Amino acid sequence: MRHLLSTEGLDRATATSILDTADNLKRALLGREVRKLPTLRGRTVITLFYENSTRTRVSFEIAGKWMSADVVNVSAGGSSVSKGESLRDTALTLAAAGADCVVVRHPASGAAHRLAGWLAEAGTSVVNAGDGMHEHPTQALLDAATLRERLGSVEGRRIGIVGDVLHSRVVRSNVHLLATLGADVVLVAPPTLLPVGVQNWPVTVSHELDAELPSLDAVMLLRVQAERMHGGFFPSAREYSIAYGLNENRLGLMPEHAVVLHPGPMLRGMEIASAVADSPRAAITDQVRNGVHLRMAVLYHLLAHEEEAS
Ligand code: CP
Repeated sequence: MRHLLSTEGLDRATATSILDTADNLKRALLGREVRKLPTLRGRTVITLFYENSTRTRVSFEIAGKWMSADVVNVSAGGSSVSKGESLRDTALTLAAAGADCVVVRHPASGAAHRLAGWLAEAGTSVVNAGDGMHEHPTQALLDAATLRERLGSVEGRRIGIVGDVLHSRVVRSNVHLLATLGADVVLVAPPTLLPVGVQNWPVTVSHELDAELPSLDAVMLLRVQAERMHGGFFPSAREYSIAYGLNENRLGLMPEHAVVLHPGPMLRGMEIASAVADSPRAAITDQVRNGVHLRMAVLYHLLAHEEEAS
């Protein structure tokens, strides 16, 4: 694997191999005082973020450091991007400076694919850490890792994804990956927060959360992305919370084994009640924890796996 740009087209064997590697890394590091492996010594990973992030940027940095890579963080605001440098020139500069892998987040859908094209000659790997409303593949992979951990398997499970489907790159990556892994996905959203063409996705669509909850093995809540809704959004925050917010009453409609996920950052009181977010049924901190091992696994597959195989 040279790049990780999307889960669309990621085959089941490769996805499963990344998930298995993440499991093995988690087990290998469990209880160790020094959580450091020598695997990527001498390799350089650069995170290039044009949008804000807490979880993704920090977990890639930790993942790289736990694999002994040199990790450099570049944010658009603190770089020559603020002087007008283009994405292409920035990428070529980072490759010339010695990047083996660039982890990029950008507001434009397709930016990571463009970057991979520009860096082909340099041999630099690219990981998409979120491009506009397109994809966020490592989020979907860490979500699958968490589902496997909590439910034992993804295949045959019924997963509800609730909320702002229209603006979500997380949902697009999850729909592709969950379909590849054999899950049954239902999207639950108001009609105003669904994209045109959703009927062609490998999912069923519902507007009624309460009707879906009793049959779900997991519910994944999406953040309502107000920053991408320049004209305000409908329904209002209050209406949204009443119809789609996951509160304790709604949690009670789900089977006992069913698990609650949220990619974060979450809007407490609107998308999810604090009593639910902080309950043992929620796997939200597990998702963050698994994100580090999963991103270690991705860096391993990109930077170490091929080398070991050759
Ligand atoms: N889930 C996610 O991408 O979170 P961050 O924006 O904090 O990275």
